[in-house]
Amino acid sequence: MVTLLFVLFQFWTVSVRAQSTSTETTTEFVFRGFKEHKSEIRLDGAATIEPNGILRLTDQKLNVTGTAFYHKPVRLLDTQRNSTNVTVRSFSASFFFVIIPSNSSNGGFGFTFTLSPTPNRPGAESEQYLGLLNRWNDGNIKNHVFAVEFDTVQGFRDGADRTGNHIGLNFNSLASNFQEPVVYYDFNDRDRKEDVHLQSGEPIQAILEYDGPTQMLHLTIYPNAVFAPRKPLISKKVPHLSEIVQEEMYVGFTAATGIYQSSFHYVLGWSFFTDGDHFAAARLHISDLPLPQLNKGSSDNQESSDKDQALATKLLIVVGLIYRYAEVKRFTKSFACVVGRGGFGTVYKGNLPDGRKVAVKVLKDSKSNGEDFINEVASMSQTSHVNIVNLVGFCYEGSKRVIVYEFLENGSLDQFISTNTSSSAEWRRRLYEIALGVARGLEYLHYGCKTRIVHFDIKPQNVLLDDNLCPKVSDFGLAKLCEKK
Ligand SMILES: *[C@@H]1O[C@H](CO)[C@@H](O)[C@H](O)[C@H]1NC(C)=O
Ligand SMILES: *[C@@H]1O[C@H](CO)[C@@H](O)[C@H](O)[C@H]1NC(C)=O
Ligand SMILES: *[C@@H]1O[C@H](CO)[C@@H](O)[C@H](O)[C@H]1NC(C)=O
Ligand SMILES: *[C@@H]1O[C@H](CO)[C@@H](O)[C@H](O)[C@H]1NC(C)=O
Ligand SMILES: *[C@@H]1O[C@H](CO)[C@@H](O)[C@H](O)[C@H]1NC(C)=O
Ligand SMILES: *[C@@H]1O[C@H](CO)[C@@H](O)[C@H](O)[C@H]1NC(C)=O
Repeated sequence: MVTLLFVLFQFWTVSVRAQSTSTETTTEFVFRGFKEHKSEIRLDGAATIEPNGILRLTDQKLNVTGTAFYHKPVRLLDTQRNSTNVTVRSFSASFFFVIIPSNSSNGGFGFTFTLSPTPNRPGAESEQYLGLLNRWNDGNIKNHVFAVEFDTVQGFRDGADRTGNHIGLNFNSLASNFQEPVVYYDFNDRDRKEDVHLQSGEPIQAILEYDGPTQMLHLTIYPNAVFAPRKPLISKKVPHLSEIVQEEMYVGFTAATGIYQSSFHYVLGWSFFTDGDHFAAARLHISDLPLPQLNKGSSDNQESSDKDQALATKLLIVVGLIYRYAEVKRFTKSFACVVGRGGFGTVYKGNLPDGRKVAVKVLKDSKSNGEDFINEVASMSQTSHVNIVNLVGFCYEGSKRVIVYEFLENGSLDQFISTNTSSSAEWRRRLYEIALGVARGLEYLHYGCKTRIVHFDIKPQNVLLDDNLCPKVSDFGLAKLCEKK
C-alpha cells in the first residue's frame, strides 16, 4: 500500500512537473520611471537609465542601437489544454515615450516594442534595422520576433507614399506586415482624426492589447493632454502571432539612430500584464513619470531647439487644460479690462464660462518670453498651496503665450502698502500676517512640493492679496525647477 502510494505520488509529481515550465504563469509589472527597477531591466548598447529614472534607449550619437528588456521571460503560450492547439495568451502593455530629434528638421531612426526569444538583440543593426534585426536575418522565420515599430524615417525600401511618421506591425522582419500613419480619434468629435507627431518631443502614450481567444491586436496611441481616443489606431486580427511566439519570450524595447541623423529615444514608464485571461496592464499617468532633462546640446542653436522640445513636454504636465486663443479672447471680452502691465506683457481680467474670475497674462511676443512662459507654467502647474497663486490654464498657439490664473481682488502687495498710510497696531499685524504667509509659500516651494522650485523674483509686486488679504506668491517667470536630492 505504501509502495503504491509512493508510486502514485511519483507519478503525480512527474506529471505536474511536465506541465509546468520555468516561467511564471502571471507576469505583471508597473514601472513609473525606472529608478527603483534597475535590476529588473536588462540594458544593452546605448541604452541607459538616467539619474532621474527615465529610460533612454539612445541619445543623439550617430549609428548606435540600444535595447532594454524585462529581465525575466514572460510566458505567452498556452499549450496545456491541447498540445496540438497552441494559443497565444492575452497580454497588454502600456508605456509613455518621448522622441526628441537632435536636429529639429531631421531626427531618426525610431524604436520598437518587441517580443523576442532573447533579452537582447545580438548583431542587430542601426538605421532602418532599429536595433532589432540585421541585413542578413531580416525576414527569417527563425527570428521569432514580433515588433510594433515607431518609425520616424521613410526607409529606403518603403514605397514613395509611405510616410516617415508611422506605426507598423512586424513579424520577423522590418518590412511591416501592416502599417498606419499615426493619428488618434478625437474623444469628443466623431469625425475628427488628429495627427500624432512621433518626434514632437511630447510624451506620447501607447497601449497595446492582444486578446488571445479572438487573436485581435489593438493599438492605441495618443498624446497625453487629451482624453483617451474613441477607438484604437489599429485593431487587427493577427493569426501570425502564434507562429512567432515561443513558450518563453522577453518583452522590451529596441531603438536605433542613423549614420546621418539621430534622436533621443526615451521611455518614461511602462506597465505589462498577462495571466492568460485578461489584458489589463495598469494605466500610467504622466504626472507620476520622469521627464527628459534639459540642456543636452552644446551650441546655442542646439540648446534652443532642445528647449523648444522641452517646452511642449513640460506644458503637458498640466493635463487637460488647453485654451485656444480665440477662447481667451472671448472670456476677456476682447481684452477689455487691463489690470496690470509690465516688461513681460499685460494682465487682463476675464470671466470663465463657469463664473470664475481669472487674471489673464498675455506675454509679449519675444524670444526670452518663451522661456519665461515655460518656467511659469511648469512651476505653477506643480504647486497647490494657499499662499501660491493657482494656475487655471494656459494657451500656447502660434506665437501667442497666455497664462491664466485665479483673479485676486486686492491687487499686489506694493499697491496695498503705497495706498495705505496707516501706522496702527492693526495695520502692523496685517503686514506681519502677510509676511508670514509669503514665508509659508516659499517654504512650500522649497520643501513641500513635488519638485523643488526657486522663485528668484520675490518682491511686493509679485505678492497678490485675496479679499481676506491672504498673500499669494505669483509671477514665476524667472523660477527654476530643481531636482530634489
Ligand atoms: C555603423 O555601426 C556599425 C556597427 O557598429 C559599423 O559596422 C559601421 O561601420 C558603422 N557605420 C558607419 C558609417 O559609421
Ligand atoms: C486538440 O485540438 C485539435 C484541433 O487543433 C482538436 O481536433 C482536438 O479534438 C483537440 N483535443 C482536445 C483533447 O481538446
Ligand atoms: C484552441 O484552443 C482555444 C482555447 O484554448 C479554443 O478557444 C480554440 O477554439 C481552439 N482552436 C482549435 C482550432 O481547436
Ligand atoms: C539638420 O538636417 C537638415 C536636413 O537634413 C540638414 O540640412 C542640416 O544640415 C542639419 N543640421 C545639423 C546641425 O546637423
Ligand atoms: C479688498 O477687496 C475688496 C473687494 O474688492 C474690497 O472691498 C476691499 O476694500 C479690499 N480691501 C483692501 C484692504 O484693499
Ligand atoms: C489700510 O489698512 C487698514 C488695516 O488693515 C485697513 O482697515 C484699511 O482698509 C486699509 N486702507 C486702504 C486704503 O487699503
